[in-house]
Amino acid sequence: MPGCYHLSVDRVAAETEEIARLGIPAVVLFGIPERKDSVGTEDYNPDGVVQRAIRAIKATVPELLVIGDVCMCEYSDHGHCGIVNGWPDENPVYYDGRWPQGYVLNDETLPYLGKIAVTYADAGADIVAPSGMMDGMVGIVRKALDDVGYQRVAILSYAVKYASAFYGPFRDAAQSPPRFGNRKQYQEDPANAREALREIALDIAEGADMLMVKPAMAYMDVIRLVRQHTNLPLAAYSVSGEYSMIKAAAANGWIDEKAVAMEVLTGIKRAGADMILTYWAKDVARWLQDNQ
Ligand code: PBG
Ligand code: ZN
Repeated sequence: MPGCYHLSVDRVAAETEEIARLGIPAVVLFGIPERKDSVGTEDYNPDGVVQRAIRAIKATVPELLVIGDVCMCEYSDHGHCGIVNGWPDENPVYYDGRWPQGYVLNDETLPYLGKIAVTYADAGADIVAPSGMMDGMVGIVRKALDDVGYQRVAILSYAVKYASAFYGPFRDAAQSPPRFGNRKQYQEDPANAREALREIALDIAEGADMLMVKPAMAYMDVIRLVRQHTNLPLAAYSVSGEYSMIKAAAANGWIDEKAVAMEVLTGIKRAGADMILTYWAKDVARWLQDNQ
């Protein structure tokens, strides 16, 4: 993924110092563990890579908001966002009479999300962001945090996340593609806008503090729709494919990276996003400073 790097924990302090100096208010952390297993154990290891990174950031730039992405896909050997009822089999057995092997078990996944969120809060995260699109994820994370006294840790819910081909470069970079099947069992159908309203209604009822729509560029109508149905702060995630294809076109001399990136981000803002997660954050901060 162009312009994006894996950082070891010893490099995180310097990077986040620069980010804070540029006036960027927050970072989202994604971890790549040393080992993966069926339940993503490293994701709730108190000394896992993200937990150590959060501590390093808070020791260096405590004012920078740290958002921990709560999901299993980078940590599970099967690459899915929740635990699965086994790998697909040539002779499928129907679990509970419903699912053959290879399906994600929504309710069985939820307790793991609670555990992950608590280890992030223990490390000093300000915000946790459940991103796996499991039904009930916000409620279980809220309860897990509250039960141990983290009422003040906020939840940014990836409430409206589509099963998008624009995630490709991220999955490469984060070594997290699903090893079988796809994410359509739990992420939304790109053709369906109204389902976004059902998703946000659930997350609001479960205690989300902020909502997110993802991807952004091909889903501007959804950002606007969600904006019109909630007064919660709304984030939009401009994802890896949106970023990489503009980078690639610019590298070929076909478009002006700065102008196009600013136009896209302005469009996301115009559609109704209060906050934008973008891989251009550092560039944009510099571009805006240069213009002043
Ligand atoms: C999964 C996750 C995804 C991204 C971040 N976390 C999507 C996916 O693989 O389904 C994609 C981010 C991007 O493309 O920039 N929880
Ligand atoms: Zn995931």
